[in-house]
Amino acid sequence: MSELKTLENEMDARDEPHRLLKEDPYSGGRAPGKKPTMTTGGQPAFFSCWDIHAYYGESYIVQGVSFDVREGEIVALLGRNGAGKTSTLRSIARVDNPALKHGEIWLDHKPLHEMKAYHAAQHGIGLVPEDRRIIQGLTVEENLQLAQIAPPHGWSIERIYDLFPRLGERRKQEGTTLSGGEQQMLAIGRTLSRDVKLLLLDEPYEGLAPVIVQEIEKTLEQIKALGMTTIIVEQNAIAALHLADRAIILDMGQVVFDGKSQAVLDDADLRQQYLAI
Ligand SMILES: Nc1ncnc2c1ncn2[C@@H]1O[C@H](COP(=O)(O)OP(=O)(O)OP(=O)(O)O)[C@@H](O)[C@H]1O
Ligand SMILES: [Mg+2]
Repeated sequence: MSELKTLENEMDARDEPHRLLKEDPYSGGRAPGKKPTMTTGGQPAFFSCWDIHAYYGESYIVQGVSFDVREGEIVALLGRNGAGKTSTLRSIARVDNPALKHGEIWLDHKPLHEMKAYHAAQHGIGLVPEDRRIIQGLTVEENLQLAQIAPPHGWSIERIYDLFPRLGERRKQEGTTLSGGEQQMLAIGRTLSRDVKLLLLDEPYEGLAPVIVQEIEKTLEQIKALGMTTIIVEQNAIAALHLADRAIILDMGQVVFDGKSQAVLDDADLRQQYLAI
């Protein structure tokens, strides 16, 4: 069988919902020692992390995580409290803590594992952190302008207001006085104002009323329709699974499932075991 054919078969196999054994140290379901998988046609995946290990000081938290994301795909990264979701996103965004000690991270042919956070952001990583980090003393518009202070630029401020009309209405209001939902919109808008290739959302629905969650969900559907490649971490797993094409479940810093979102929605035992829902 040709190498390309083998790769195509691997991809087909990946499309099938499957559980990965926790004992398998090569948690992406790949053979030992293999580099990031290739998409059909022999092109590298748009995003790949391969066997990443990250530490907070001596604490070994991200323990050999591997997965790919195709261009335009939305992946839900799920797992119980403390499973390592935030730490995985932070490792991908190359922030200092946790320290990445091993593994490779590739985005659109660029080796993020060789970069600092600032360069990873310049190369298209857009992390929207859980705490939103709206800058005190600045209006909504000034927060957006500050994000665009250096190229490469993404969406224009007017386009962000089209996506989130509430932000446009409150453009002169101090950002930290916005409601929680509006601050989440500003945090997402600020990230889109940069030239983002991979959007990383850490608990975008956290602490928000159901009606606001629905509003942000609608916006994320719009962003999805535009083809933005996204990894979403959410405690509200059901909402994330409805938005995402694929789900990856982490447990104790390792991937325990990588498959279709629908497969998780259909598997009550799996949800109970790893998501407690
Ligand atoms: N700065 C830190 N220093 C030391 N340990 C940390 C630090 N941040 C997180 N951890 C530990 O790393 C583990 C994974 O945490 P992480 O925040 O990645 O989990 P999570 O899956 O995002 O959880 P949650 O759903 O509660 O947000 C936890 O055991 C946590 O206590
Ligand atoms: Mg977290």
